Amino acid sequence: MGDDVFGEDPTIRALELRVASLLGMPDAVFTASGTMANQLALMTHCRRGDSVVVPRNSHMVLFETGASAAISGIQTFEVGEDGHFDGDHVRAAARSNAYIYPPTRLVVVENTHNFAGGRVTDAARMSHIAEATSALGISLHVDGARLPHAAAATGLSMGELVVGATSASICLSKGLGAPMGSVLAGPLDFIQTARRYRRMLGGGLRQAGLMAAGGLFALDHHMGDLRLDIDRAGELAAALSETSTFAPIGQPDSNIVVAQTVGWDAEAALAALTDRGLRAMAFGASRVRFVLHRDITEEAFQAALTAVRSVRP
Ligand SMILES: Cc1ncc(COP(=O)(O)O)c(C=O)c1O
Repeated sequence: MGDDVFGEDPTIRALELRVASLLGMPDAVFTASGTMANQLALMTHCRRGDSVVVPRNSHMVLFETGASAAISGIQTFEVGEDGHFDGDHVRAAARSNAYIYPPTRLVVVENTHNFAGGRVTDAARMSHIAEATSALGISLHVDGARLPHAAAATGLSMGELVVGATSASICLSKGLGAPMGSVLAGPLDFIQTARRYRRMLGGGLRQAGLMAAGGLFALDHHMGDLRLDIDRAGELAAALSETSTFAPIGQPDSNIVVAQTVGWDAEAALAALTDRGLRAMAFGASRVRFVLHRDITEEAFQAALTAVRSVRP
């Protein structure tokens, strides 16, 4: 393996160029995590004191330990509902350069939206948002941690889903099933600066080619399997809706199902599910998130359906 800090690892470079091409962008940079990719995007698009328009309950706001404020000095404005927003939300939230405002430099789309239960932003909605950002002269970033599942859900390519975006990231270690890593793509000068910031955050990983090989393998061999996760999410939501103990929130768009717990709280429900060998996650006091992924065998999936049907408060 070569040393990626010196730009000498051929597998990392092959992965970066593959993702850039899949997303229809000029260049890309490998990052240790989705959080790092998001934070590099913020640091590169913005200056301290700038503002960013994000979807309500975005990963950047909820789950990145306040990094946008702590590291980049960014103020966020949350818009929309249920993982969705449109161009009008952007126009209403964006602040001008007038002296008293934190000027808005960036809009972020999270596709799929984690907290909203894997909500997909389709190409039409994306194009309305891009129209607004382009008219306002601000950048548009797609947090595409689960963009591969958005592509599987819509039947579009990842590139078609980020048309109009200035930059986009995908995670290799979620639905794609690689051991680690994400990739941030965008214009040449943007990636050059992001690479500097990656080093600043300690994300220059030197012999990380082994990880990039896992990412390339996943892109070559796992994309075609993602549809199964989505079909199973539909089956799981149907099974949950037949119980008196869970109420799925909406119809799942992709591989995530979020359900309200009925008659018990999320922790109690999770304990009962764990006893039956099914692992899920609390999303607040009375919501549970289930994620369907490629490592679930058919037998395990059937056992999961039996578990959600049989656990009781
Ligand atoms: C939408 C979204 N973006 C970014 C991330 C961050 O990825 P990581 O946990 O690899 O830093 C996640 C993680 O779940 C996510 O759901």
